[in-house]
Amino acid sequence: MVEREEGNKNPNIPTGAIELSVTEVDVLADAETPPFPVDEELPVDETLRLRHRYLDLRRESMRDAMVLRHQVVKTMRDVLSEHDFLEVETPILTRSTPEGARDFLTPSRLQPGSFYALPQSPQLFKQLLMVAGFERYFQIARCFRDEDLRADRQPEFTQLDAEMAFVVEDDVIHTMETVMGAVFEVGGLDIAKPPWPRMPYDEAIERFGIDRPDTRFGLELRDVSDQLRGSDFKVFESVLGSGGVVRALNAGRREMSRSELDGLNDVVKIHGGKAVAYAFVEAGETWRSPIAKFFSPEQQAAVVRALEASEGDLLLFGADTPAVSAAAMAGLRLELGRRFDLIPAGRHDALWVVDFPMVEWNEDEQRWDALHHPFTAPTGSFDDPAGLRSRAYDLIVDGWELGGGSIRINDLEVQREVFKLIGLSEEEAESRFGFLLEALRYGAPPHGGIAFGVDRLVAILAGKPSIRDVMAFPKTASGGDPMTGAPAPVDEKQLRELGVQLRRAN
Ligand code: AMO
Ligand code: AMP
Repeated sequence: MVEREEGNKNPNIPTGAIELSVTEVDVLADAETPPFPVDEELPVDETLRLRHRYLDLRRESMRDAMVLRHQVVKTMRDVLSEHDFLEVETPILTRSTPEGARDFLTPSRLQPGSFYALPQSPQLFKQLLMVAGFERYFQIARCFRDEDLRADRQPEFTQLDAEMAFVVEDDVIHTMETVMGAVFEVGGLDIAKPPWPRMPYDEAIERFGIDRPDTRFGLELRDVSDQLRGSDFKVFESVLGSGGVVRALNAGRREMSRSELDGLNDVVKIHGGKAVAYAFVEAGETWRSPIAKFFSPEQQAAVVRALEASEGDLLLFGADTPAVSAAAMAGLRLELGRRFDLIPAGRHDALWVVDFPMVEWNEDEQRWDALHHPFTAPTGSFDDPAGLRSRAYDLIVDGWELGGGSIRINDLEVQREVFKLIGLSEEEAESRFGFLLEALRYGAPPHGGIAFGVDRLVAILAGKPSIRDVMAFPKTASGGDPMTGAPAPVDEKQLRELGVQLRRAN
């Protein structure tokens, strides 16, 4: 090592004043020039990055993400261990656990024609561990769900999965606030210390149109059906006359061109909506809008007041069934939040959503579906399925569902009732979940738990838009791995051993 000459020193880097003086070189391995620079953070095509993930992982930002991920998981293990939780592994080759996605299946060679399902979550095993008397369980668990992928969804992902016996909602929530509070601190996230606020599901839908509200900015929704009922506007009248609602939001003082306003129709269509109507507030609480002529001055003023609007404000309306108008206006609200840059930089919000409905009506299948999973404990009467609530809770951070859980059913008869409610015949329930029903006969303690998406959590902490950026070897949107080439065809011989014959896809 020698000192650089004066004038040749670079004060901008720590080693800028020295030079290595090489006397001998040993080449340990040849290295070709990588297909993209690994020492600078230039945008690189993601498929290329994934194809050479081992090079991509050399980049500093990817390394930082992996280090952060390690620290997050270590903190979870440390805090839970301090609280007497036991980490127990559960099988990957197992039977279906319904979490609302399609199963990945693995054919059995020893029992041709039979298949294992990869777990969508360890849900049933952790409940069985409660029956077994393990009062506090956790696992950093790999889960598999065959569903359409998005920025926050991968076919295999990792949960912090936990379960506790002899608890009610508050016990699980408090314990998990301790864990997540510690994790946020390790991740350096500037977020309020727990306890975090709790919002009933109905309020979340009413104010934000969605059960995972991003509360970091306003533009809250209001149901203005009552203010608008009885007008000459056929579109709204027919929606209101058939059990629908009109939800509105005040976008604030905005200049938007006609074509920009028309473009908002495409935003709500993504979420199943039909269109958005708009109005600009004028002096005297009236509207400037293509649909103003259909509404009396009193109606216009009532809406202006309901939305706490003033002159120049842009009001937006979505009319549809309660569920569709909520989803459409929620999507519109988020888009406007992004477009107008309404989320304060560096702000993070955590809240629990509670008091969920137990089931929701599935129009296509004409049956009730469990909103969480069918092992969630209900409250209310089975005679009024729509009125049943569940003892579930979700942790929402910045509009992402970070975790969800519930107090479970520990009574055999209640579990049978729920299976019946969601349309499972006794035979089906017995054949799919007989082992759970049998276990419940031997005395299950009251129990409950939760699971957090580790990938989503680390993505939030690392400020990454996609969970792919915090997974060492993720898959593309089509579920493939450009590096290994998975999924791939297999040999005829392997198929024969498995008793599997391929049919041409049609
Ligand atoms: P749930 O299905 O809500 O609950 O999953 C828990 C958390 O896992 C994360 N998550 C995902 N992350 C990445 N990719 C996916 N495809 C994906 N799907 C879910 C989310 C979610 O909040 N057994 C129950 C938990 C319980 O009741 O204890 C369950 O799995 O962050
Ligand atoms: P139309 O009568 O279909 O031309 O619609 C007249 C206005 O009402 C247009 O501004 C549409 O964008 C709006 N509109 C139509 N359907 C809906 C709806 N379901 N919700 C809100 N606005 C709508």
